[in-house]
Amino acid sequence: EKGGYPHYMLKEIMEQPRVLYETYTGLLSSKELAEAAKLIASARKVFITGAGTSYHAGLVFAYYIARYAKRVATPFIASEYTVYSDVADEDSVLIAVSQSGETIDTLQALRAFKSKGAKIIAVSNVLGSTIPRESHTTIYTRAGPEIGVAATKTFLTQVLALTSLALTLATEEGTITTTEYKKAIEELALAGRAAARSIDASLRILDKLVLVLKNKGNMYILSRGIGVPLAYEAALKVKEVSYIHAEAYPAGESKHGPIALVERDFPVIFLGVPPEDVLLEKLQGNVMEMKARGAHTIVIGTTPYGKLEGVDVFIDVGSYDELLIPYAIIPPAQLLAYKLAVALNRDPDKPRNLAKTVTVE
Ligand code: F6R
Repeated sequence: EKGGYPHYMLKEIMEQPRVLYETYTGLLSSKELAEAAKLIASARKVFITGAGTSYHAGLVFAYYIARYAKRVATPFIASEYTVYSDVADEDSVLIAVSQSGETIDTLQALRAFKSKGAKIIAVSNVLGSTIPRESHTTIYTRAGPEIGVAATKTFLTQVLALTSLALTLATEEGTITTTEYKKAIEELALAGRAAARSIDASLRILDKLVLVLKNKGNMYILSRGIGVPLAYEAALKVKEVSYIHAEAYPAGESKHGPIALVERDFPVIFLGVPPEDVLLEKLQGNVMEMKARGAHTIVIGTTPYGKLEGVDVFIDVGSYDELLIPYAIIPPAQLLAYKLAVALNRDPDKPRNLAKTVTVE
């Protein structure tokens, strides 16, 4: 049932090209995207919530909705809902992201918002689960059942659904033209291909990298722009399945504290993302400040980042714009986490202390 793979986690990482395409065709043929976009368009306040990986998908949404629809969405971690539900009203919309549709923290946030008259949009992978049942409309991802405890394929399908929602809203609000919308939607059809390519491009080099990283107790994962939520997700994967401490933060924050920990051979992974004309030089500065302290510097990034100096290992994921970059950056990060777990004899499918779905507070 693992499709010939030794673990569900690997199977589910490898399935991403297919389930992304299935989610994509499902989204195109559904009316829920338009329905959800209308709810957002008529709301004054927009919030997005989830726990763990689903929260990270929410952060990606907050980026795209600002970029394309020129709207602000406030992301918050579901268990911290009270401060946000206090300001919710009939003019508010909450997007509740939960692959299982059963996470108690997310459900409680949803109920608190609903009691204030807010409209609720669910994003879920499980048909008829509690969160969709209690929401006004649901956008379904089509990742298929996810058995591995660490969320992998559900994350990128959530990102795809939420990106499509941001774009649908943007046409509704007139911040992008119909032609731009069509072009973007056509581009998203290639999400699965981007995932497949970066899996192929990274497998071998990751095996070498794991030999070095498996002996480390800590690492940083840094990025800028759309790469920041992707870095959070990468760090969560590494922590969950390998038990190596990985901390992600926006690269510009180094000087404000975390660089104090960096000494010789401290691993720092940078995610190099578009737009390169804005971000590449800045990331170069961040690489150099780490290199100057003797850090082991690794870049997982688009082809243009190949010209960075001071980099020990470069994983080239290809050339992509902001719309497709999550599908190219995340699979190598998931594979890194998986390979570290295996190298350390840890079961990636059943990490200690974790349950797939958290239904108690
Ligand atoms: C991370 C992970 C958890 C879940 C979180 C939310 O790999 O699996 O952080 O993302 O528990 O779960 P759902 O999406 O089912 O609400």
